[in-house]
Amino acid sequence: MSTAAGTPRTRTADTRTAVVAGATSASGIALTRRLVADGFTVVAVGSDAGRLEAAFAGSDGVDRRVCDLTDEIAVGGLAEQVLAGHGGANALFHLVGGWRGGRGITSQTTADLDVLHRSVFVTLFNTSRAFYDQLAERSGRLAAVTATAVASPTAANASYAAVKASVDAWLQAVAQGFAREGTGAAATAVVVKALVDDAMRQQHPERTFPGFTHVDDLARLLASLPESTAGEVNGARIDAERAQPSARG
Ligand SMILES: NC(=O)c1ccc[n+]([C@@H]2O[C@H](COP(=O)([O-])OP(=O)(O)OC[C@H]3O[C@@H](n4cnc5c(N)ncnc54)[C@H](OP(=O)(O)O)[C@@H]3O)[C@@H](O)[C@H]2O)c1
Repeated sequence: MSTAAGTPRTRTADTRTAVVAGATSASGIALTRRLVADGFTVVAVGSDAGRLEAAFAGSDGVDRRVCDLTDEIAVGGLAEQVLAGHGGANALFHLVGGWRGGRGITSQTTADLDVLHRSVFVTLFNTSRAFYDQLAERSGRLAAVTATAVASPTAANASYAAVKASVDAWLQAVAQGFAREGTGAAATAVVVKALVDDAMRQQHPERTFPGFTHVDDLARLLASLPESTAGEVNGARIDAERAQPSARG
């Protein structure tokens, strides 16, 4: 079950609520800050209370929730709490990732595939089902981050690319559901090659990170989705670098 901590804004009829699933990574922190700056109350979700507290303690507008997103029952409880405490979710941003690879096809392991499937896909499967009705009723937005590896998989990252492809397929299916039911909701895939943040740049000043997307640019792109019309973004697969070339070079 999820547990709560934090300082959510006082709810008014105009308050919009976004759930960030996987909020404690650099990308999750950047997105949460961006959404709060845009006026959202953010339900920041992670599996570890300490990491959530370290990231968001004292942050106005952030409701910290501990929830194992691989646990279907716990995610159902989280969705009920968001409905009861915030009047429902207007957006769900899925940022739970992970990476496992090998040297080639025969070195892909069942254990690694299982880890990737649970972390990358099951967490999206659980959250998008649990929040589907809330998003459909509120013309909401669902977005998840997928990878260029789907379109250009290698033998070394075969399991990762295959699991990320399942994310793309699932988002397309959710998009079809939103459209078929005549909702104003939208499901969108945002595609990145890799992410970079300021700490990585400082640790490796010799690297140029070609094709990487800065987490602040990803946050800006994701946070813009609620301002787009559903027709523009439902079922879309948006290349983060093409959509929003980084000013950082
Ligand atoms: N990093 C890259 O270069 C890259 C490349 C291509 C695509 N992407 C995609 O971009 C997105 C963000 O990537 P990232 O690298 O910032 O993500 P990440 O480092 O994998 O962050 C994972 C986040 O999810 C949380 N989390 C993990 N398992 C969880 C669970 N069972 N229940 C609840 N929370 C859980 C983690 O927090 P706790 O540990 O506190 O639970 C953390 O906040 C992901 O979808 C990733 O696949 C990233």
